[in-house]
Amino acid sequence: MHNNRLKIEFNSKTILVKKNSNLRKALKENSLLPYNGMSTYLNCRGFGTCGTCAVMVEGKVSPKTKVEKWRLNFPPHNEKDGLRLACQCKVLSDLKITKFGGFWGQNKVVST
Ligand code: FES
Repeated sequence: MHNNRLKIEFNSKTILVKKNSNLRKALKENSLLPYNGMSTYLNCRGFGTCGTCAVMVEGKVSPKTKVEKWRLNFPPHNEKDGLRLACQCKVLSDLKITKFGGFWGQNKVVST
């Protein structure tokens, strides 16, 4: 029944979403938010400008949009961290999503 659905793992939950779903919307529709603390309220609602929906994505999503590249290139983000803005990503495969700490989710923890 869920053949054409893709799996997203986030916060030890697994949800099923349609291919090409917007990652931020898909999480929100399942009561999962790509935000920490106050950024749940203080965010740009998906325009790619605030940078607070940054997450680590394992799996395939659409290439970075122009605004996403721009936002991930100034502090506290750094494109080298490899994070993605959930509001700018379309889901293209099963995914595992990790949210790091900090208002923007910028505190990437590198496992050793
Ligand atoms: S919600 Fe603001 S950049 Fe994604």
